[in-house]
Amino acid sequence: MSDARRKILVTSALPYANGPIHIGHLVEYIQTDIWVRFQKLRGNDCLYVCADDAHGTPIMLRAQQEGIAPETLIDRIGMEHRADFAAFGIEFDNYHSTHSDENRECSELIYTRLRDAGHIARRTISQAFDPVKEMFLPDRFIKGTCPRCGTEEQYGDSCESCGATYSPTDLKDPVSALSGATPVQRESEHFFFQLGDFEAMLRGWIGGEASDGKHHPAIQPAIAAKLDEWFETGLQDWDISRDAPYFGFEIPDQPGKYFYVWLDAPIGYMGSFQHLCGLRDDLDFAAYWERDAAEKAGTELYHFIGKDIAYFHTLFWPAMLHGSGFRLPDAVFCHGFLTVNGQKMSKSRGTFIMARTYLDHLDPQWLRYYFATKLGNGIDDLDLNLDDFVQRVNSDLVGKVVNIASRCAGFITKRFDGRLADSLAEPELFDDFVNAGDTIAAAYEGREYGKAMREIMALADRANQYIDEKKPWVVAKQEGKEAELQAICSMGLNLYRVLVTYLKPVLPTLAEQSEAFLHCPELTWGHRDRALLGHTIRKFKALMQRVDPKATEALIDASKDDLAKRDQAAAEPKKETSMEPIAETISYDDFAKLDLRIARIAAAEHVEGADKLLKLTLDLGDETRTVFAGIKAAYDPETLVGRLTPMVANLAPRKMRFGLSEGMVLAVGPGGKELWLLSPDEGAAPGMKVK
Ligand code: MSP
Ligand code: ZN
Repeated sequence: MSDARRKILVTSALPYANGPIHIGHLVEYIQTDIWVRFQKLRGNDCLYVCADDAHGTPIMLRAQQEGIAPETLIDRIGMEHRADFAAFGIEFDNYHSTHSDENRECSELIYTRLRDAGHIARRTISQAFDPVKEMFLPDRFIKGTCPRCGTEEQYGDSCESCGATYSPTDLKDPVSALSGATPVQRESEHFFFQLGDFEAMLRGWIGGEASDGKHHPAIQPAIAAKLDEWFETGLQDWDISRDAPYFGFEIPDQPGKYFYVWLDAPIGYMGSFQHLCGLRDDLDFAAYWERDAAEKAGTELYHFIGKDIAYFHTLFWPAMLHGSGFRLPDAVFCHGFLTVNGQKMSKSRGTFIMARTYLDHLDPQWLRYYFATKLGNGIDDLDLNLDDFVQRVNSDLVGKVVNIASRCAGFITKRFDGRLADSLAEPELFDDFVNAGDTIAAAYEGREYGKAMREIMALADRANQYIDEKKPWVVAKQEGKEAELQAICSMGLNLYRVLVTYLKPVLPTLAEQSEAFLHCPELTWGHRDRALLGHTIRKFKALMQRVDPKATEALIDASKDDLAKRDQAAAEPKKETSMEPIAETISYDDFAKLDLRIARIAAAEHVEGADKLLKLTLDLGDETRTVFAGIKAAYDPETLVGRLTPMVANLAPRKMRFGLSEGMVLAVGPGGKELWLLSPDEGAAPGMKVK
């Protein structure tokens, strides 16, 4: 480590502004925040910027569905995101939005520079168009019958039943998920970024030849292997434009054409930094972004992302930067995905846990620590096992670390008026703790947090061992051993102080509380060797609670409840239609086509393997029907048996994974738990027609 303060700019991926932060996201923001806090603790100039990713079709449609302007939606979600991040101790130097003046300027600048340098091509392409909504349809907004297995109601890109992937033109009987209309093919002119122009530059950058001539591997080996595959397949031109209606930035001089959300999203890193420059007068935008100025200033740039968006960050983004005269990132750090209890996060299992829900039940520092123990520098997925979580936090943080302070502080306060001894009882042990800092720092720097945590816990074990051997609780009862008691407890607290310094990037709140109780200056890496001697501490208060396993159970239950509420809000195209205001009228003839009849629910049962469905046997007087209804969250099957409810009797039978569904029952409400079947007044009987 040289003495010079490094100037480092760090980003995390920009979360979409159409949904809440969940614990999967938190892997990334916690990973980044730890790294940034570590850099700051070391005395480097480190800046951490982020923003909400506010543009694109799903956000536009979600706002429409809620009947509000997209600006209103993104403002609201932006506030929620900020609050969630703050609660988890994720401390940005700036948090902005991609829907901002700064980002518009940066996007226009990059685009025009790329265009003027000849990297943008124009071509007319043909795409699915919704004639009712009058808009082009992204693949996810087209539904139809799977061309491979024949399952109905599948999305335009893949089949949930057989797993086939295809293009929307392969679907049988395609319909728009927005209007139900049959899409037509329509032509339109699009703008393409010619990625292939940058192949040689990208290969060099990935190989570690940065524009600054320094040699450092810009990406991890596993991602480099992926990139080799992508180079093999060939770098395709990238469509960076979308037609109106679209929520985004209009392309300069191209009315009705917008930048595709993924063009202006990474530029949002710059936009957020530009906004920060406006807030502080010690920062120079060019010194961090313009190629020559950045090289001269020696600034560093790092992006933390999930492996799902590596393509955008290791191909498009560096190519866009380079092609427009900006500097390249020094590295892109990818992480893996979070699983919970060994499986993909699942709404029905209650493991799709929102940041807010977690905060209602558990201490955010616990998750920060747990993720730290699990994080390495690779792209492997990491698992949050809730039993292990309880055990790790209780045994490491409460049982080892905080325990050191609580074993020593009481004696110092009660017997010595809070005063620590004037010298260290075991200077060599203290030196060992200080010297271990180099290995721990190297682990943090290399994002090997799991390794750092293991080193720190090994030190905590040694500190506890020291106290076990010296037995202050025995010494305390012996006559004339005052000095020895003070020496042991002062030693213990000084070891504790070094440990907390090492944990400070992960546990900022514990560090702050410890600084207060030790009554010492702000803990920094460089000053860790400055033992507290002849110094007066304050009264010790419990620093961290044990995790109650019941709290993790409550968290899972609450997350199951969330599912009902939030599912509706999720921007899934499937739901986009159901909540749209009724805009068009139908003719009486259309209405007359409906055969609505009263049915008696003769039997109701759970369906093995179905998350949402109940199987209903409906008695229509002269016939019985089987109907699969998505009302599982709202009703216990037993409570339904015997009741009357209207049904659509002439709906074409639908083949489902669990059997044939011959009709549909009618319910109202937003969905999930809040769903209510309709009931006729008394006097109605099975088979009667609704008029
Ligand atoms: N908006 C884009 C990123 C644009 S960056 C210029 C996006 N947003 S996201 O909200 O879907 O994801 C934000 C980050 O969280 C991504 O890096 C993503 O990989 C990460 N994660 C989202 N779910 C995750 C898990 N379940 N586990 C770990 N990381 C996850 O992508
Ligand atoms: Zn299929």
